[in-house]
Amino acid sequence: MLRSAVKKKRIEFTTDIGRIRDGQTTFVTVGTPSNEDGSINLSFVKKATEDIGASIRNSEGYHLVVVKSTVVPGTTSRVVRPILESSSGRPCGDQLGLCSNPEFLAEGAAIKGTLRPDKIVIGAEDDESRNTLAKLYKRIYKGKKVATITTNPTTAETIKYASNSFLATRVSTINTIADICQRVPSADIETVSKAVGLDPRIGPLYLKAGPGYGGSCFHKDLQALIAFGQSIGYDPILLSAVEEVNQRQANEVVRMSQNLLGSLNDRRIAVLGLAFKKDTDDIREAASIRVIDQLLKNGASVSAYDPMATENARKVLPEQVSFATELGGCVKGTDCCIVMTEWDEFRKLSPRDLRTMNAQNIVDARRILDRSKFQGFNYVAVGLGSAKP
Ligand code: UGA
Repeated sequence: MLRSAVKKKRIEFTTDIGRIRDGQTTFVTVGTPSNEDGSINLSFVKKATEDIGASIRNSEGYHLVVVKSTVVPGTTSRVVRPILESSSGRPCGDQLGLCSNPEFLAEGAAIKGTLRPDKIVIGAEDDESRNTLAKLYKRIYKGKKVATITTNPTTAETIKYASNSFLATRVSTINTIADICQRVPSADIETVSKAVGLDPRIGPLYLKAGPGYGGSCFHKDLQALIAFGQSIGYDPILLSAVEEVNQRQANEVVRMSQNLLGSLNDRRIAVLGLAFKKDTDDIREAASIRVIDQLLKNGASVSAYDPMATENARKVLPEQVSFATELGGCVKGTDCCIVMTEWDEFRKLSPRDLRTMNAQNIVDARRILDRSKFQGFNYVAVGLGSAKP
């Protein structure tokens, strides 16, 4: 889609900030990384705002600035607005509009998320800003009905953090129940999730137990919200617990392999999957990194394979990790393999693919293998109760 849009000249890329003057609306989509204490780093947002303001300073006509970057509640009104007003030399109002318009796309599903969003959130400083942005979206979605929430910028910003907090909480909740199932012979989280998800008050999504959430958003946003809460005199302990459960989930995966092998010392482990989820090469905050770290600390050696993320992982993992270019090379001579990412390639695994392993031990951290196929194997999985938990 991008290639075709470039070809048709419907999109172009420039490093000339002055081109902002050619348009009526500017979206701020820069990153909002974490400071060392977890709080949000707004330096890119501030710089972008300053540049936008400076570049429209001597231009005529109405300009709308839309903050799409994820920013803590109050940022658009209390940080962006004053910078924009002073750098542009105009007050928000007739000539200058300002909105918060958070983004809810998930990686690997951006096109679907763009074409069929479940909602659009417009947090506007004033009516003119709101109407201008609403009109823009109306044009994009033409006849389609897309739920649109219009509110003030601070509430819009809060909606974004609330969404990610809820989603991360669901994952940590199901992982908590999975860890309990793990310790009860014959309990199975898969069936628990399926049944629980049928309750319309709960719903079926984000109930997949696994090695813990990764990616550039959940951890970063929860940390930012925790730090923000604390800065205004409220400690959101629920979110801290969600994060702690998530960190611990990696220990669970390591513990399962330890239980299979007795000790990890001098054992060779195959890690299948490095990306934080399938269909991406992104390894930011991936559970695989936490698991590999601990395997190495426990004296194991690690060979890893991922269909897309190897190059990125190579940059952050220690040199001892060996990277295979295909699955067969990764599992060869290993004592245990751990499935860390739900790639379709791993879903189809059969005993034949694992025949060169040194010992037949599998940890299915994503619950994607058909365990009935692996009869001769020691198979353990997240949330699957076993006699030896
Ligand atoms: C997440 C949100 O889903 C998006 O709505 C949001 O816009 C985005 O963050 C953001 O703030 O930019 P993303 O990080 O791309 O999107 O990934 P998700 O698909 O939500 O998955 C996050 C992690 O949770 C993955 O590691 C995934 O494996 C894990 N997960 C997800 C589970 O372990 N179980 C589940 O049931 C669902």
